[in-house]
Amino acid sequence: MAMLPRYFSLQPFVPWQQSERPAGWSRLFGRAAELEVEIGFGSGEFLVQLARAQPDRNFVGLELEWAVIQKALRKIALARAPNVRVLLVDARVALERLFAPQSISRVYSLFPFPWPKKRHVKHRLFTSALLKLLNSRLVNGGEARIVTDDRSFSEWVAEQIPGTGFRLQRQAVPPRFGTRYERKWRREGQERFYELQLIKETALSVPVVEDIPLRIHRLARFHPDRFHPEGTGGPLAVEFKDFIFDPVRSVAMVRVVVAEDSLLQNFWIEIVKGEGGWSIRAAKGCSMVPTAGAQKALDLVKEAAEKGLA
Ligand SMILES: C[S@@+](CC[C@H](N)C(=O)[O-])C[C@H]1O[C@@H](n2cnc3c(N)ncnc32)[C@H](O)[C@@H]1O
Repeated sequence: MAMLPRYFSLQPFVPWQQSERPAGWSRLFGRAAELEVEIGFGSGEFLVQLARAQPDRNFVGLELEWAVIQKALRKIALARAPNVRVLLVDARVALERLFAPQSISRVYSLFPFPWPKKRHVKHRLFTSALLKLLNSRLVNGGEARIVTDDRSFSEWVAEQIPGTGFRLQRQAVPPRFGTRYERKWRREGQERFYELQLIKETALSVPVVEDIPLRIHRLARFHPDRFHPEGTGGPLAVEFKDFIFDPVRSVAMVRVVVAEDSLLQNFWIEIVKGEGGWSIRAAKGCSMVPTAGAQKALDLVKEAAEKGLA
């Protein structure tokens, strides 16, 4: 299959795993300004509209899908909007780790997935816990706007609000955002959507989730052919994928996937021979956030390497 080249600037894209946490937004934008955030910006139509309409504000887009981020990067470049940054990240992880308390003026989410089936309700983003987190990251008087095509989803979000410090205003709104999903619903005949405006009235405090310092393990010896790391399940799940050993350089590499809370990480661990023996550590250059899950993966590699020595 022929690969078509796609041209866009990566300049607005923030590889957040490699920057400081909470992120230094003023540095990333090259100026201090009020911060607005769009969750699940899709192809980026609304994010770009916002940025062009309010050049004096900084806009951060959070998205889970790289394919749509590429579309948004093209739109940002075409609109020549210098005040937009986009991140490939779960919104919950971003709010927990990348935004300081009371740092965002407004949050938007247009047509978030409603997960209408009962067994999928657990995937909905705007739970009471998420709304508390959102509250703590918003400035006093700040607000979140959620627009949905799904009436029962809007009712469910409204039910999450007690105890989250927000006052709710609800209204039916006509199509006015011009996003891909709005167009999709219009093609199917829907001309009325549900807007929830959550205004921060009482300030809640949710601490920023911080990185943890990772311990590097050391071993006197390592046998690559007797190394069989085993993953683990549960809330902090680790799965080992590939294993490569380079006997010339005396380096082993293990690829691991770690899932904890909303954070899914895929990175390499290296087992490297040095002067005093072998070190087990996250491979240099991988985009990995040091978490309890990452430490667990390093610990399991050490356990398996030790087992191979017995
Ligand atoms: C139904 S689409 C709506 C996209 C766009 N707002 C629109 O109106 O066309 C929902 C979007 O939210 C993104 N998304 C879902 N869960 C997310 C999360 N936890 N964090 C960030 N983005 C998320 C999806 O990847 C998807 O692009």
